[in-house]
Amino acid sequence: MDKSIKIYQTPAVLAESFAAELVLIITDLTKKGRTVTIALSGGSTPELLFSVLADRYYNSAVWEHVHFFWGDERCVPPVSNESNYGLAKRTLFDKIGIPSKNIHRILGENDPSDESLRYSSEITSFTQEKNGLPAFDIVLLGLGEDGHTASIFPGYLDLLTSEKICEVAVNPYSGQKRITITGRIINNAASVFFLATGKKKSVIVENIFDKKPASLNYPASFIVPLNGQLQWYLDNDAASLLRD
Ligand code: 6PG
Repeated sequence: MDKSIKIYQTPAVLAESFAAELVLIITDLTKKGRTVTIALSGGSTPELLFSVLADRYYNSAVWEHVHFFWGDERCVPPVSNESNYGLAKRTLFDKIGIPSKNIHRILGENDPSDESLRYSSEITSFTQEKNGLPAFDIVLLGLGEDGHTASIFPGYLDLLTSEKICEVAVNPYSGQKRITITGRIINNAASVFFLATGKKKSVIVENIFDKKPASLNYPASFIVPLNGQLQWYLDNDAASLLRD
């Protein structure tokens, strides 16, 4: 099996294991006196991870050294049930002691073009620079059933090579506007983790790892960190079509 893949029985076991790995990475970086920058993924998959982090690590000293960002956000108010920030606030931030200055949400309620520029500046201000670009320590990514990741959808592969840090994107199925970090920023991170669970992701996962022709349309196929770590965390269902 590809060494970049870790497979777990269930989403709950995956979340427990990844939470431990995440806290270990953060702890190691903070021991070097570092502030740690993490870009969170959206959608529903990370909810279990957030709950495990809140339950198991709510009193960890690491949080004061972590600055949370998002890889993408829907252009909705923070109180919307579609807000990626809102999910993280309810399930994680409200339950751990983290200074509010460490939370860098995308202002989904603002004009998308203005916010894309503003957020790009915020990312630049708080992240390290590598290869002349902002470099997150950690980027978490989900995987859409169409192979999208962050808010880079099939048909918008130009967002993978955009010169910008953030771009205004559109969910092609709903027309909903989004703000997303671009592919070059994702690939400039020190560590990129895909978390994908459920049978619905199994075909996409198989197409990507078997390098099927269809995968050339998937933005997720083009996430190849320049000189960083790429790790896929899958549950049995999402990995069910993979061959050893
Ligand atoms: C979003 C995302 C998106 C998500 C995938 C998987 O804002 O929706 O960031 O890329 O990670 O669509 O979504 P699920 O976890 O809900 O399957």
